[in-house]
Amino acid sequence: MSPLLTARDLTKTFGVQPALRGVDLDLHEGEIVAVRGRSGCGKSTLLHCLSGIIRPDGGQVHFHGERIDDTTEAYRSELRRTRFGVLLQHGHLISELTSAENVALPLMLGGGSRRAALAAAATWLGRLGVAEAAEQTPGQLSGGQLQRVALARAMVTQPAVLFADEPTGALDSLAGELVMKLLSRVAREHGTAVVVVTHDATIAAYAEREIVLRDGEVDPTGLGVAVGVGA
Ligand SMILES: Nc1ncnc2c1ncn2[C@@H]1O[C@H](COP(=O)(O)OP(=O)(O)OP(=O)(O)O)[C@@H](O)[C@H]1O
Ligand SMILES: [Mg+2]
Repeated sequence: MSPLLTARDLTKTFGVQPALRGVDLDLHEGEIVAVRGRSGCGKSTLLHCLSGIIRPDGGQVHFHGERIDDTTEAYRSELRRTRFGVLLQHGHLISELTSAENVALPLMLGGGSRRAALAAAATWLGRLGVAEAAEQTPGQLSGGQLQRVALARAMVTQPAVLFADEPTGALDSLAGELVMKLLSRVAREHGTAVVVVTHDATIAAYAEREIVLRDGEVDPTGLGVAVGVGA
């Protein structure tokens, strides 16, 4: 089976600082891949290039066999609205809206009726164990609840790929594991492929496979650190 998403030889430099130096990645349908490595190794940059938030300087990204990195900003935004889900470290929910409205928003932006969108939002909030948060605004929620609401919003459009950048980074280990458990469960139930960025080996253990970046390159040792002589 050909991969759902591929990256070939991705490079990205900010000023004189190379953030990606020739990264390859294959993501198959329904697969969960963790991207791990030290701070500054290029994890977020890779996720942003894969999801079309930024364009790489070199290399190619294909989705369903179609090249997407050279498409317009509008096209890539549309992909993120319809085919990709994005979950960031701090969730980025809209503070004036309730949880239910936040989750319903992607469907309403896609032209769905408010009533149907809110019904889908309620289903997703229930599935992720935060039904009680439906009528609350983000300021009234705990970190773990916020991430579960943000996950509901990322999944409500039933994306083919979920991109998650340190979705558990702001949480304690118990809350972080709960979010990761739920994320991997709903992804498997819906056949969603996932790219999850994390510092944390415990979180990465929920993935089927991990790649480790080191200074903008895939580290073939999988360690992400300098291996000393004789190590
Ligand atoms: N918008 C930007 N402008 C300038 N430099 C950037 C920008 N984004 C990333 N960088 C630089 O690129 C390198 C990789 O950054 P990136 O954010 O991808 O790392 P990361 O692995 O996600 O780190 P962390 O674990 O701290 O989130 C770093 O040196 C960073 O300073
Ligand atoms: Mg990062």
